Amino acid sequence: MEVVIVPDAAAGGELIATAIADLLTRKPDALLGVATGSTPLPIYQALAARVAAGSCDASRARICQLDEYVGLPKGHPESYRSVVLREVVEPLGLTADSFMGPDGSAGDIAAACDDYDRALAAAGGVDLQLLGIGSDGHIGFNEPCSSLASRTRIKTLTQRTREDNARFFDSLDEVPHHVITQGIGTILEARHLVLLATGEGKADAVALTVEGPVSSVVPASALQLHRHATVVVDEAAASRLKLADYFRATYAAKPGWQSL
Ligand code: PGA
Repeated sequence: MEVVIVPDAAAGGELIATAIADLLTRKPDALLGVATGSTPLPIYQALAARVAAGSCDASRARICQLDEYVGLPKGHPESYRSVVLREVVEPLGLTADSFMGPDGSAGDIAAACDDYDRALAAAGGVDLQLLGIGSDGHIGFNEPCSSLASRTRIKTLTQRTREDNARFFDSLDEVPHHVITQGIGTILEARHLVLLATGEGKADAVALTVEGPVSSVVPASALQLHRHATVVVDEAAASRLKLADYFRATYAAKPGWQSL
């Protein structure tokens, strides 16, 4: 696992946008797995700025979703489909044709989950999966004690996650209890995992993820099992890392030819 400590969220966004732009140069139709929440927004803004400036061609990129609320009406502005279309797909100049995600309003949720896992495989697998981290250590919506082998399935949100996400809704009561999320086993199949965490509120979860044991109690610790996982953190989110100085020295001495 590579840990990169950046000064702030904007620097993290630029660094990861560079990795995505490099990937699109190597593979113009790469399948990019995107995350929702506040943390990845600087990545999407940095990437959209490059596309607008003509320094990155994302015209053949394909975008896929990590997770989705269950039960929100189709088109609800806070459904993750709506959020990804608004924050990622449209700013990159793409359309819904370039986008795939699980159907949170399906009549048969279990079938929708299986369909999504199959669709990801049929699309050739995810090339780069962006991840945020919950204050409880979740990735996607894999809450603590999610199986490390799990596939895309329905999950029940913890009260803490519902409270964390209530800011996007008019009240806590409106935050759904159920979600569809790519499983941890599904996420681990992506070729490159890039987790961005910013702010003091993520410091404990980051320390457990990077320096704690691999454990389903901290779902993000599964990144330790991946051969190409990158954790980008700002100073506040890095503040409880015991090996912070080592991570800084490693990155400072990184060969110029080696990208994230
Ligand atoms: P946040 O969400 O970026 O809004 O903190 C992260 C997550 O829940 O994965």
